[in-house]
Amino acid sequence: MKISIFGLGYVGVVTAACLARDGHEVIGVDVNPQKVDLIAKGESPIVEPGLSQLLIDGVAAKLIRATTDAEVAVLESDVSLISVGTPPIERGEPDLTYVWNVCKQIGKAAIHKNESHVVVLRSTVPPGTLEKCQNLLDSLIGENSIHLAFNPEFLREGSAIKDYDQPPYTIIGTESPVAEAAVRQMYATVNAPFTVVKPSVAEMVKYVANCWHAAKVGFANEIGRVAKAFGIDGREVMNIIVQDTKLNISPVYMRPGFAYGGSCLPKDLSALLYYARNMDVPVPLLNALPTTNSLQVDLAAQQVLRLGARQIALLGLAFKPGTDDLRESPAVLLVKRLIGEGCQVKIYDPAVYEARLMGTNLAYIQSNLPHFEGLLVPNSQEALEGADMAVVTHTTPEFRQVLLEAPKGMQILDLAGVFNQTTKELGYHGIAW
Ligand SMILES: NC(=O)c1ccc[n+]([C@@H]2O[C@H](COP(=O)([O-])OP(=O)(O)OC[C@H]3O[C@@H](n4cnc5c(N)ncnc54)[C@H](O)[C@@H]3O)[C@@H](O)[C@H]2O)c1
Repeated sequence: MKISIFGLGYVGVVTAACLARDGHEVIGVDVNPQKVDLIAKGESPIVEPGLSQLLIDGVAAKLIRATTDAEVAVLESDVSLISVGTPPIERGEPDLTYVWNVCKQIGKAAIHKNESHVVVLRSTVPPGTLEKCQNLLDSLIGENSIHLAFNPEFLREGSAIKDYDQPPYTIIGTESPVAEAAVRQMYATVNAPFTVVKPSVAEMVKYVANCWHAAKVGFANEIGRVAKAFGIDGREVMNIIVQDTKLNISPVYMRPGFAYGGSCLPKDLSALLYYARNMDVPVPLLNALPTTNSLQVDLAAQQVLRLGARQIALLGLAFKPGTDDLRESPAVLLVKRLIGEGCQVKIYDPAVYEARLMGTNLAYIQSNLPHFEGLLVPNSQEALEGADMAVVTHTTPEFRQVLLEAPKGMQILDLAGVFNQTTKELGYHGIAW
């Protein structure tokens, strides 16, 4: 393919070198003439293992050129990649000026082309940016002349070529089959699965990946601090933690939904926070967890009230399905809050209904919902009778079926992810979707 690359920084130059190695014809474009001169001579403007040789080979094979002339680059290529910087300005907002500038340059040049042109945005940008690029380009040269995709880059400096060759996946955010086909062809030799999603999802994924990495580093460092204060080697602890790929490093506990609860997570987190406080170990990330967790309960209650529901059927009271353990269940806190706001609540939870509550479990529910036995009903039909909203906290097949058959007009607030987006319809609300 003939590919122009706008922005010859860390991402652009590595991409140029790898695409040329894979047989594509690359024209690099940068506003910095020094970078352009270096690359045109086959010299790397950055330090990156293996890059210099790829650039030398690419220039020698006449597969890499570089220019400051955007128009020439667009006219002589089928696809333009945008990998300009998106640095932070005030309050963390990313500066998208360079992205808009390149879009304008591409648009003005593409007017002179007979065929349509593909633009692939690779810079890290906030959700909605590709759509704005599309609007900008459409306003310059009319609709259907440019096909756009967002394709986030996951390479890390220092291992950039290896990361380019072995990404976890190739994400294509696009609504355009033409742009999708171009990206697939561009990476034909890269061994990774393709995932095609809406542009805004792909844009968000890139931010989330980096926030997740930052959260992991912060978490591991806080554990290291507390462990050291206990006289334990934090590395040894985390070495064991990461070996559990069933629960610890896994999709489990990684889905947006309702708050955590139960007899262990809140208790053990409180204990660790207590010891950290006593040993004067700052753990702001861990400290924030109870706050963010109770915010999720507040959010659910506010959503119920904002939607005007007052007769509520709650499906699922225990902190998870299949148990009668009500201790620290966020659903109990939600019911307490809704009753306090004047709502009528009927609760159906098969495991709780059949249980003979006793001990700390009984004490917990009695202190939080003293009359809860009067709220429990024996089946979902009874819970839904007369309700204007069903709030579901468990993803059980039974609840899913019941909600599919729910009377028309009844609102559903899904806190657990019982339904995916395809079954979304009027009256259905998700907590994070
Ligand atoms: N560096 C990384 O490891 C990495 C990894 C993944 C994603 N990203 C993202 O990729 C994007 C680029 O990052 P980078 O580190 O390569 O940036 P960089 O600052 O190293 O390079 C950006 C280049 O764009 C050039 N430029 C600016 N305006 C231009 C224009 N109108 N035409 C042509 N070139 C122009 C600049 O002169 C510069 O050479 C950013 O959004 C970044 O967040 C970076």
